[in-house]
Amino acid sequence: MKVENALKDQYRKLAKHEGYRSRSSYKLLELNKKYDIIKNDDTIIDIGCAPGGWLQVSKKYSGPNGKVLGLDINPVEPLIGIKIIQADIEDVNIVQTIKNSIRIPIDVVLSDLAPKISGIWHFDHERQVSLTLVALNISTQILKRGGNAVFKIFEGDNSNIVKQEASKVFLKVTTSKPKASRQKSSEFYLICSGFSADVQ
Ligand SMILES: C[S@@+](CC[C@H](N)C(=O)[O-])C[C@H]1O[C@@H](n2cnc3c(N)ncnc32)[C@H](O)[C@@H]1O
Repeated sequence: MKVENALKDQYRKLAKHEGYRSRSSYKLLELNKKYDIIKNDDTIIDIGCAPGGWLQVSKKYSGPNGKVLGLDINPVEPLIGIKIIQADIEDVNIVQTIKNSIRIPIDVVLSDLAPKISGIWHFDHERQVSLTLVALNISTQILKRGGNAVFKIFEGDNSNIVKQEASKVFLKVTTSKPKASRQKSSEFYLICSGFSADVQ
């Protein structure tokens, strides 16, 4: 087995063993250890949350008093202590839908959004970046001053646009590629801290 596949297999086995719904959980576990994105008692929204691995990690780090809301276009099996909405983030009323489910402003926005992969790289890249820009726009309407965010990005010609836009509203923006993310995959994560505006 190639090293890459062995690693993928290792995280899948670990997720099964530790009760996480996705191997992606290990990406957020790693990112949170390094950047301290989610803190105890935080209110968090996870955009593009199915099947729910990041929701489990969010609950773990925010603790019993933390509030976690998941949002996905696809259904998600219920998780104890976590609210889930099935909705399209491109719906024009999405911010209102979020506000109806959670009190804003919130502490953390997570986005691991990925479109259905067509296999045509430039198309998938453009679509993923476009979805991520929607997630960033939603963030600017619900985050509290000083809040944090994580956005997955498919690397390509347009990935810098997200970084530039995020830099306008966060004090610090860095990129990170967790070990749990396959080296061959072109995804990376934007770690944003210190949201710099006040929302109502
Ligand atoms: C890589 S998965 C997320 C995995 C998740 N972080 C976990 O650990 O379980 C990406 C998700 O983005 C969702 N998604 C894609 N387009 C969406 C849209 N327009 N609105 C809401 N969710 C969307 C997909 O349905 C998919 O579940």
